[in-house]
Amino acid sequence: MFHVWITALFSGLVAGRLVGIPTVAFDMDRGAFTTNSGELAWDTIQRIVVSSKYANHIDEKGQTLIPPTLKSFAATFSSDLSKVLHRNIVVIEGECCSSEEIFLTIGDPANYLDAAGRQTSEGYSLFISGSGITITGASPLGVWWGTRTLLQQSILNNTLPFGTAVDSPGWATRGMMLDVGRHYYPPEFLVEMCSYMSFFKQNTFHLHLSDNLYNNVGLYTRQQSLDLYARFRLWSDAPALQGLNKFKNESYTQEQFEHIQSACVARGVTIIPEIEAPGHALVIVQWKPELGLDGDLSLLNISHPEAIPTMKLIWKTFLPWFHTKTVHIGADEYTGPVADYITFVNTMAMYIGEISNKFISIWGTFPPRKAPGLPKIYPNVSIQHWAYFEDNPYQDYVLANYSVLNSDDAFYVVNKWSGSYPQTVNISRTFHGGQGKPWYPYIFNMNNETDNPKRSSLLVLGEVAALWNDYGANATVYSEAYYAWREGIPALADKQWGGNLTEAEFYTAFMALHPFIPDQNLDRSVESVSNTILEYQLPASLASQETRDGGGLTIKDLSGNGYHAKTTCSTTRKGSLEINPSCSLVTPLYSKGRNYTLTIKLKLSSLTGTYATLISGPDSALILMPNITFLAAGNYFSLNATLPVGEVTELTIAGQGSQTFAYVNGTKMEFLAVLGINGVSLRWESIGIEAPLHVVGGDSGWTGEISGMKLTLWQKSMQKNQISNATNHHLMYTMRKTSIYAQQRN
Ligand SMILES: *[C@@H]1O[C@H](CO)[C@@H](O)[C@H](O)[C@H]1NC(C)=O
Ligand SMILES: *[C@@H]1O[C@H](CO)[C@@H](O)[C@H](O)[C@H]1NC(C)=O
Ligand SMILES: *[C@@H]1O[C@H](CO)[C@@H](O)[C@H](O)[C@H]1NC(C)=O
Ligand SMILES: *[C@@H]1O[C@H](CO)[C@@H](O)[C@H](O)[C@H]1NC(C)=O
Ligand SMILES: *[C@@H]1O[C@H](CO)[C@@H](O)[C@H](O)[C@H]1NC(C)=O
Ligand SMILES: *[C@@H]1O[C@H](CO)[C@@H](O)[C@H](O)[C@H]1NC(C)=O
Ligand SMILES: *[C@@H]1O[C@H](CO)[C@@H](O)[C@H](O)[C@H]1NC(C)=O
Ligand SMILES: *[C@@H]1O[C@H](CO)[C@@H](O)[C@H](O)[C@H]1NC(C)=O
Ligand SMILES: *[C@@H]1O[C@H](CO)[C@@H](O)[C@H](O)[C@H]1NC(C)=O
Ligand SMILES: *[C@@H]1O[C@H](CO)[C@@H](O)[C@H](O)[C@H]1NC(C)=O
Ligand SMILES: *[C@@H]1O[C@H](CO)[C@@H](O)[C@H](O)[C@H]1NC(C)=O
Ligand SMILES: *[C@@H]1O[C@H](CO)[C@@H](O)[C@H](O)[C@H]1NC(C)=O
Repeated sequence: MFHVWITALFSGLVAGRLVGIPTVAFDMDRGAFTTNSGELAWDTIQRIVVSSKYANHIDEKGQTLIPPTLKSFAATFSSDLSKVLHRNIVVIEGECCSSEEIFLTIGDPANYLDAAGRQTSEGYSLFISGSGITITGASPLGVWWGTRTLLQQSILNNTLPFGTAVDSPGWATRGMMLDVGRHYYPPEFLVEMCSYMSFFKQNTFHLHLSDNLYNNVGLYTRQQSLDLYARFRLWSDAPALQGLNKFKNESYTQEQFEHIQSACVARGVTIIPEIEAPGHALVIVQWKPELGLDGDLSLLNISHPEAIPTMKLIWKTFLPWFHTKTVHIGADEYTGPVADYITFVNTMAMYIGEISNKFISIWGTFPPRKAPGLPKIYPNVSIQHWAYFEDNPYQDYVLANYSVLNSDDAFYVVNKWSGSYPQTVNISRTFHGGQGKPWYPYIFNMNNETDNPKRSSLLVLGEVAALWNDYGANATVYSEAYYAWREGIPALADKQWGGNLTEAEFYTAFMALHPFIPDQNLDRSVESVSNTILEYQLPASLASQETRDGGGLTIKDLSGNGYHAKTTCSTTRKGSLEINPSCSLVTPLYSKGRNYTLTIKLKLSSLTGTYATLISGPDSALILMPNITFLAAGNYFSLNATLPVGEVTELTIAGQGSQTFAYVNGTKMEFLAVLGINGVSLRWESIGIEAPLHVVGGDSGWTGEISGMKLTLWQKSMQKNQISNATNHHLMYTMRKTSIYAQQRN
């Protein structure tokens, strides 16, 4: 059983293609069947050679206006490959070719076609032989996607078969949309998501930068609407925009937005910014209440003389921030006059075109059919279809010659809870949504083939799958958006590109590849030699290695991982650590994501305030206020329990899948999010919070003693004592390989 599993896992090659995510059509060199020389061992690869002729070339055909050079992509590839191979693979400029080298160059763009038969700058070919490896791209971006193929194969097998691949994406827009309007996400989270998406060849991350909770007009007073959670996530100091955004700590400054865009595009992912109006525009009305439409203040009154000038002012301020050829103006779910809506869209298309030369994109809302006799939306506006009750993408738009992006709600996710949508991507639909066959971006309607354009349609831009935070900021922590997409991104990415991975192949390939996705540690995994990741027992952790350096005392980690802590605290006579506001214990770890058990043995001597931080890390802090509480993603999640003062207590925090528990004296309690459902009701839902691992003490809120701290990996099957050898093997393997980023997060 184990043997079968491992073979399936590592045989990256199946007749005619390389199994990766996405799959790559591959013609194996016939020599491979007859001689051992039909394979190239990764061991022999020493260098990446960037063609001197093309080193500074860039791709100007994609959406980004800040495309990296071939040389820059090569450097990123070298760092990724070095980590997988545990060797330093250097980059030099030069010419083709040697058996020790991966040569990166640019070729004839005419060789690479999309599903519509047009040239695409994202295509590449891969040639593997006794003379080494060559990736020839239609552009540097094409080469970059070729490096993702090689990187995946380097994870899956020690050798590469001789042969040739000519590969290009079927569709130009491939990616995800995150609602950062109704939930803030830190810049680094977005950048890590880009790294994750890029590994699977997605190239688009659409950020929905402004929105509000549902304005329940039947229920709310005018004042309640004006107080409802509504956010605009870009922060500008421009005097004319003062008051538009009141929450600087949950916004992106120009510098931060610049960082997000450049870090993402370094891995081939373009940020598409969206500022939403005239619907979902409560944040603008909260700023200028006179612009609200009577009856629903979340909508702009477009006929108000200041409405369009206000939107022009906002766009004029932020357009210089955006390094993309297309920006998104929202234009979703407007229920005011349709004529006003069309005026708004066309005015903005003209204005944005005039001052920045950028195109605009809108959500499908009022198709021409619903606007009889009115002017048409300009043909250079692209439509993002999401729901059949709004539009019919084929009948309304494709047949009317508009370009359409598929964001059909078949792949929608609403975080944590929804009356209508799932909480994870419907993976099965990616594999079977094409009438039992795989789904692809040209399939808008999974139930009615006559409602879909041809696969070769020139007007299907691709797909962007959306995640919405309908129930706002306190429903989730940041990483829950990632977990909602963790399997969905690769499953969709295979089809967005045009791959043909089967569902069974997908899970095997995903499990093998996931631990190695570069430049992110969204799982917050920590490298460990066993299930015990960290263990401090006092006084045992002192006895063996009581060294002071730089004023600090070393607390030895007994797990075997060497995660020794430093402390400025003194020890008690019994050998535990005396914690007070002027000292702390600092570990070399920061956060541990799902599936962990963290136990702290402590005695609280005094609680001096109403807010005491027991232990903190970058993703969460465990505090006493005085109830046991997690602070995560800017929100408090409290238990109906406190810790006793003056007694030794064992406090255990357990992250078990999407749930987080505390055990106090053996009593189990769950941390819950309390979601507000449109002002009508509340819902208690589980929440998956990372363990805080970095600092104990140093907080003025408490004094006490720490006599132990232990972090272990939690596994459902381990509890039942039924851990299978195969699973265990995979787990250990995963743990060994995934630590690279654990130390560097802060
Ligand atoms: C690696 O790929 C080769 C084919 O090139 C295959 O024969 C071999 O079984 C694979 N190795 C592993 C460990 O899966
Ligand atoms: C996938 O496509 C390749 C050619 O690109 C073909 O050889 C292979 O049979 C297909 N596999 C499946 C599972 O459809
Ligand atoms: C929209 O604004 C115009 C101009 O100020 C005003 O006359 C009209 O009553 C407003 N309509 C609504 C529905 O708010
Ligand atoms: C899109 O079309 C409108 C109307 O013709 C035009 O004003 C605008 O400049 C165009 N946008 C671009 C980027 O060409
Ligand atoms: C399928 O779509 C076509 C075109 O829109 C429509 O005419 C037909 O009624 C639809 N069939 C079903 C069963 O809904
Ligand atoms: C931002 O500041 C507000 C007000 O102080 C606070 O409630 C919120 O938790 C902060 N957000 C984050 C993400 O820290
Ligand atoms: C704190 O916990 C107590 C039980 O120990 C409970 O009665 C109280 O409601 C909790 N307070 C908050 C704010 O959760
Ligand atoms: C905590 O206690 C409060 C007040 O007694 C109660 O309303 C709430 O439902 C309790 N919460 C949980 C999670 O048990
Ligand atoms: C834990 O147990 C001790 C006695 O063993 C008790 O004094 C203390 O109150 C308990 N703590 C909680 C939170 O139940
Ligand atoms: C955590 O454990 C749950 C339950 O066993 C499992 O389904 C999930 O895949 C695990 N998550 C991670 C990130 O390992
Ligand atoms: C979370 O926010 C909602 C509003 O969306 C509110 O009704 C609810 O009480 C909040 N939950 C907590 C625990 O504060
Ligand atoms: C379990 O897997 C290990 C390799 O990790 C192997 O050495 C051992 O023989 C396996 N045990 C069983 C009972 O299959």
